[in-house]
Amino acid sequence: MKKSSTVTAIRKLTGAMVGIPPRHIDFRFPESMPKYFYGGNATATTFFAMLSGFFPPGERYFMESVRQFRDRVTDDNLRAAISGFMGQEAIHGREHDRLNELLAERGFDMKAPDRFVRIGLAILEKLPASTRLAATTFMEHFTALLAEQLLEDKQFRQQADPEMIKIWQWHALEELEHKAVAYDVYELVGNTRTERVAAALASMLVLLPMLGITWSWMLAQDRQLGNVPDNIKGLSILFGRGGFVSRILPRLPEFMGACFHPDNHDTKALESRWRDKLFAEGGDLYHEYRNNVA
Ligand SMILES: [Fe+2]
Ligand SMILES: [Fe+2]
Repeated sequence: MKKSSTVTAIRKLTGAMVGIPPRHIDFRFPESMPKYFYGGNATATTFFAMLSGFFPPGERYFMESVRQFRDRVTDDNLRAAISGFMGQEAIHGREHDRLNELLAERGFDMKAPDRFVRIGLAILEKLPASTRLAATTFMEHFTALLAEQLLEDKQFRQQADPEMIKIWQWHALEELEHKAVAYDVYELVGNTRTERVAAALASMLVLLPMLGITWSWMLAQDRQLGNVPDNIKGLSILFGRGGFVSRILPRLPEFMGACFHPDNHDTKALESRWRDKLFAEGGDLYHEYRNNVA
């Protein structure tokens, strides 16, 4: 009997196939982990705890603003990149929710960042869908800068608790892997520089005061606002010369450029180095990576 000559298998592209694999990681946060996990400094630690509190609602907003336009994307590679992006952001939100529970047990007021960021996002929610997507591309630009800084900054690695730092490194790597996805969707649905700049300014206007209020509120609830030596040291770690945030801020305006694209700044070598460091056999998260199919 004659066998059928060829079978054409049409495989749907996945996020992993285009370099954006959603990774399920079992993070462990040992009891011995100090409350002030960043160099024993309450002010700097609270800043990172606040960011962790912002991530779950923030990332759901990003996902929703991309989902609105998903049906307009016909390119298979971009569709796969979108599903990788959705998968990565969903897991980030889930894992930061777990971390936030632990931080709340340790005495941080983790309801505050959740509450304040929701107020800010509700304001941005009133913008038209394309402007919301533009705002998402700006916030993804900020997140990618934060991620790059986190992976490059030796001081961060030296100061942060070695177990706590792993969730930040995993998140940072994936932020770089998917940094162009929202922007590529935005380009497809009608990127205009005016809208992009307006969305960036609106995001900063809404979110920056909220960041200051939340940080102060959390420190006050922890009776650390007014702990002058700690506050000064923390501010200098973050905003001093060569500080963590100081090195990010000068790069924020890149977003406003006429020819901006997230991939203009190449982070491929950095990503590859960290993929090896975290997920290659013997890597820092090799045993915690549950869906490693490689
Ligand atoms: Fe994320
Ligand atoms: Fe992201």
